[in-house]
Amino acid sequence: MRSRICGTGSALPKREVTNDDLSKIMDTSDEWIKSRTGIGARHLAVEETLTQLAAQAASQALQEAGVRSEELDMIIAATLSADNILPSLSCELQRELGAKNAVAFDINAACSGFLFALQTADAYIRCGQCQKILIVGGEILSKMVDWNDRSTCVLFGDGAGAAVIQGSETPGILSSVSGSDGAKGEALFCKNRENHNPYVKGATEVSYVSMNGQEVYKFAVRTVPKAILEAVNKAGLLIEDIDLFVLHQANMRIIESVSKRLKVPIEKFPVNLETCGNISAGSVPVLLDAVNQKGMLKKGDKIVLAGFGAGLSWGACVLVW
Ligand code: ACO
Repeated sequence: MRSRICGTGSALPKREVTNDDLSKIMDTSDEWIKSRTGIGARHLAVEETLTQLAAQAASQALQEAGVRSEELDMIIAATLSADNILPSLSCELQRELGAKNAVAFDINAACSGFLFALQTADAYIRCGQCQKILIVGGEILSKMVDWNDRSTCVLFGDGAGAAVIQGSETPGILSSVSGSDGAKGEALFCKNRENHNPYVKGATEVSYVSMNGQEVYKFAVRTVPKAILEAVNKAGLLIEDIDLFVLHQANMRIIESVSKRLKVPIEKFPVNLETCGNISAGSVPVLLDAVNQKGMLKKGDKIVLAGFGAGLSWGACVLVW
């Protein structure tokens, strides 16, 4: 048994905040942000919870797939910013959707999270344990960034995307690669909450999201093309066979560098940075849904999905639409 994506969905918070809006509350400019990242605006959750955004995205994906929520065997949510520590986003989502037959768990792999969720769903279906799985990637990072740190808070946006994965006789997902490099974890981190355990001496370290942008840039431009090539080889294809590259939307310069290193025209790399910023685990599924809804995916098209980020971690999949 193989697995394929048979429905997608996405949801963004109502409040759109442009670079010019940000320049009114901090020392930044549209020119600085756009020229370095390609980001023009982002949606920030003011009224919405992540569970609500994820449920909206999931309902669309289920509808497109023609799957009822009770038919789901599993829900996997990729996030690092769930509404609660407990219960998980996936369990909240199960309740919202009434997906009472699904086992639900979260994956925290930052911007690689959706790829890891997809690969996990594929493995569960291939081994015969599940038939229908909902995967979601979503974040409300606006509550985890330091709004006094202009070098990080301008980069991120909120939102959620979803896909339904089903067992199929014909292959959808052709190959997967993934990796982690915990030794370089300090390039992008967010420390935990305060520890009030009376037996622990000294203050615990807490922080907002903190990033060494140049280290992350170097990691991404070296690792992502390699992972994509490996996945394409594993699928028995050539890079020229791929119709579309749906990459994690961190930064336009990273996407341009990947396109150059792979010698693939930039037109094959759709982007939504201009309106969405970096949605971490939500960025790949939100963009995948956008290209799907725009009719840019034809049956039989070969697509690469790739995520990369904190951990450090990365993942790539080749699939046939
Ligand atoms: N507005 C105006 N000026 C700013 C801003 C801002 N928002 N942020 C920083 N600056 C200033 C800095 O203070 C610094 O000023 P100084 O020279 O007077 O000290 C100057 O701009 C340069 O700052 P750098 O941090 O060195 O900026 P850099 O050119 O490296 O660009 C960026 C930062 C865009 C993040 C870059 O490092 C990059 O592209 N990194 C890739 C990683 C990435 O995109 N990460 C996203 C999240 S991780 C992920 O999703 C995988």
